Amino acid sequence: MPSSNPPHRVLFVCLGNICRSPAAENIFRHLVKEAGRDDEFIIDSAGTIDFHEGKPPDERMSDTLRYRGYQVSGRSRPILLKDLESFDLIVTMDESNFHDVRDMEGAEKYHDKIRPLVSFLREMDAPRVPDPYYGGQRGFEQVADLLEDGCQGILDHFS
Ligand code: 4NP
Repeated sequence: MPSSNPPHRVLFVCLGNICRSPAAENIFRHLVKEAGRDDEFIIDSAGTIDFHEGKPPDERMSDTLRYRGYQVSGRSRPILLKDLESFDLIVTMDESNFHDVRDMEGAEKYHDKIRPLVSFLREMDAPRVPDPYYGGQRGFEQVADLLEDGCQGILDHFS
């Protein structure tokens, strides 16, 4: 039965919005759908820089996710102050994005909404979701492992 409550709005944020945060967005969307809870969530992602604006997710990240059975979509966009107002939960990947979002002009009143993905980990333990951009395939697998665990934790958080 469709939920009558307003949807939870979850925004994933990394640096470029082409590797980690679109991966998190697509993994979380998959988990939500699998749980039959599509109508309970609005899910999006953004980057703290606009360098890759308009680009689809990095092919190395997309290949890693598709191999694991996820659909991959999205286009890079920079985070804006209005996102902090409109989303209920803003999930960052590493300390740098966490502080960059908190330090946005006007962000003070939204600090409670900003949380690192690693704070939702259930089985794994890590200080951050590391930037895989300049590394090899192992880094993309590690990102996917962390995101799968953390996204399940986010879904549990809203249960
Ligand atoms: P992301 O990865 O923040 O996970 O999307 C990166 C994407 C691009 C760059 C660095 C990290 N870059 O330097 O352009």
